[in-house]
Amino acid sequence: MRNTPIERKLIDETIEAFQIADFGKATIREVKAIAAKAEAEAGVEFIKMEMGVPGLPASAVGVKAEIEALQNGIASLYPDINGLPALKEEASRFIKAFINVDLKPEGCVPVTGSMQGTFASFLTCSQCDEKKDTILFIDPGFPVQKQQLVVMGQKFETFDVYDYRGDKLKEKLESYLTKGNISAIVYSNPNNPSWICLKEEELRIIGELATQYDVIVLEDLAYFAMDFRQDLSKPFQAPFQPSVAHYTDNYVLLISGSKAFSYAGQRIGVSCISDKLYHRSYSGLTKRYGGGTFGTVFIHRVLYALSSGTSHSAQYALAAMLKAASDGQYNFLNEVKIYGERAHKLKEIFLRHGFHLVYDNDLGNPVADGFYFTIGYPGMTSGELAKELMYYGVSAISLITTGSHQEGLRACTSFIQDHQYAQLDERMAIFAENHPV
Ligand SMILES: Cc1ncc(COP(=O)(O)O)c(C=O)c1O
Repeated sequence: MRNTPIERKLIDETIEAFQIADFGKATIREVKAIAAKAEAEAGVEFIKMEMGVPGLPASAVGVKAEIEALQNGIASLYPDINGLPALKEEASRFIKAFINVDLKPEGCVPVTGSMQGTFASFLTCSQCDEKKDTILFIDPGFPVQKQQLVVMGQKFETFDVYDYRGDKLKEKLESYLTKGNISAIVYSNPNNPSWICLKEEELRIIGELATQYDVIVLEDLAYFAMDFRQDLSKPFQAPFQPSVAHYTDNYVLLISGSKAFSYAGQRIGVSCISDKLYHRSYSGLTKRYGGGTFGTVFIHRVLYALSSGTSHSAQYALAAMLKAASDGQYNFLNEVKIYGERAHKLKEIFLRHGFHLVYDNDLGNPVADGFYFTIGYPGMTSGELAKELMYYGVSAISLITTGSHQEGLRACTSFIQDHQYAQLDERMAIFAENHPV
């Protein structure tokens, strides 16, 4: 057995100090804190792949617009609760340009990040019909969304889509929907953590079942158009970002400034409610609020109660970024495609040293190179692999925390620096030697 880059004892003691019984269940923040402590004590650099935060400068278009807005004095004014009219217009136009869907500005509602968008959506969806008290996750997924439901005391069900791609998705979804308790279905596409992308035929299944069983689809587009296998960057030109919006009227699209525009710090996104859903009234909402439609309750009741709108200057930033993208003057995907390049190099290193990709294809096509990828190692559980890699100065989170039933880890490319490919190669060579397959 060759020595590991970080002394095993140091990692074991650090994990013990955090009182984590099962490292497979450690949260992102815990993994980050343990890696930081071990790095400081060992004096050996960690290759950090646990956090899913942007590692690039914020979009200059957004920063400029936001500074100008502040200089023009908007900070003293409460933003319109419905959203800045220019942002609503641009969000609607952006959806037409990049998804090829018609959605009126009225339904495009600024939120303090998609995080608030899902919170407000979960809450509103859960109040529409008292028989429908459960949210269904097409997992793997973003763990904080389940925490949101725990915080608000709502129920959820979940399944790992790994074994239910393509036609199999229909029967699986129906096994939940026929029970009549599901108010909404949520998934991200491209998916955090697996980077699978649901295909048109799968989105059609979801959309048609949503109409049939009268449930609302919450389509989380946090990684908008970041399936780099195709060039989705040309406004008003195919190919477009795939969306369930082509197959049902019961949907909310969650578009975030955080990843596509590296604008996470300003907490800005738009929740885009379909025209039909916006104007629909529900008995549960009428009973609770004395009136209103899905759209007006979402804005005037829920968002008003949560934060009374969204940071005024950030709305100017997002309006400018969306406008520049739709005008074809700003190719936002050019700025973020480096994540795909990093994933390509990192995957090659891991695969060469005996690892495999866990979620590796979309109905037969290899998954795209993007913000995340998933890896496993023969004979190791998620928890064992996550812990073992810490001895090699590599930090990543276990798939268990994402609702996946597969053994493996999520690796994020956002913090990788150029000199770390050689470092990873060296360390994984030792790993492979120490763990012959
Ligand atoms: C799938 C998914 N949804 C939502 C978010 C949060 O987005 P925002 O920063 O807009 O709140 C993230 C961030 O990591 C994510 O991965």
